[in-house]
Amino acid sequence: PGTKADAFAPSNIALCKYWGKRDVELNLPINASLSISLGELGSHTTLSESDRGQDQVYLNNELLSLDSPFARKVIGFIDLFRRDLKQPVQVRTVNNIPTAAGLASSASGFAALTLAIDKFYRFDLALDHLSAFARMGSGSASRSLYQGFVEWHKGSREDGMDSCAERLALEWPGFRIGLLKVATGEKKVDSRSGMQRTVESAALYSAWPQQAANDLVAIKRAIQQQDLECLGQTAEQNALSMHATMIASWPPLLYWQPESVAAMHRVWELRASGVPVYLTMDAGPNLKLLFQHADEMQVRDAFPELVDADIVAPFG
Ligand code: DP6
Repeated sequence: PGTKADAFAPSNIALCKYWGKRDVELNLPINASLSISLGELGSHTTLSESDRGQDQVYLNNELLSLDSPFARKVIGFIDLFRRDLKQPVQVRTVNNIPTAAGLASSASGFAALTLAIDKFYRFDLALDHLSAFARMGSGSASRSLYQGFVEWHKGSREDGMDSCAERLALEWPGFRIGLLKVATGEKKVDSRSGMQRTVESAALYSAWPQQAANDLVAIKRAIQQQDLECLGQTAEQNALSMHATMIASWPPLLYWQPESVAAMHRVWELRASGVPVYLTMDAGPNLKLLFQHADEMQVRDAFPELVDADIVAPFG
């Protein structure tokens, strides 16, 4: 292995969501998904030899206990690649995602770690293979290998190697995402167990794979045509349909807080007043607003809590 490898990967927001696994071991999805990466916002990871005789895991410059859930996940992932090399490593991950934005960092974290592993062990793998490996750390990480609009193919091979993401040849310079953090505190049920519960207990889930497939086609076309109305409506319905399947699980899975619902009403009021703004939500209480640069002032006026760093221009 090399002495030190550095890598960066962006965070991403799904416009057509991934929810449900058809293979838990290999982490293969039931449906394909489509996301937009967040440019400079993401994770920096450095992998080097450890001089302490044991693995060391740092998160945002703090040394973690090897028993912590984060360190165990990271080391477990590295073990997939180092096999019996028995060489202790030091992993340093720094997330530059403002905590105020309320974004999960597992997608960018596993993508950056995969890139760092590839460099450190000099595997020199192609990006689609790295994407498939990142997927084994966290599904959404498969999409964080790329900037821009990204599609994660569900794949059909048994070994899962065709379940990887691909950058779409589409750009939309005026597209904006607003990160609206409405509630604090760790989410209680992580995506992994949340989606398992939904697949196993929600009758509504049977409608999800087909809807997601249809939504993905519509979203791709909307991006091609830079049609915010179509993109926004489809992405918002997609997210709310995913949440409907969560709510229909047992025990019920409701990621929304009262503040989330209040913010949803504010988005709908703003839209009713003529501003084209739409929302999406993941497995947590926070909202992401979808709009265009031309309407940024009106969105800022209505949501003064969005500061500069909470409005992302994915295409710079
Ligand atoms: C709601 O990728 O975090 O954000 O594969 O179990 O690690 P695991 O799940 P994860 O799930 C993300 C779910 C989502 C939708 C999405 O990003 O597509």
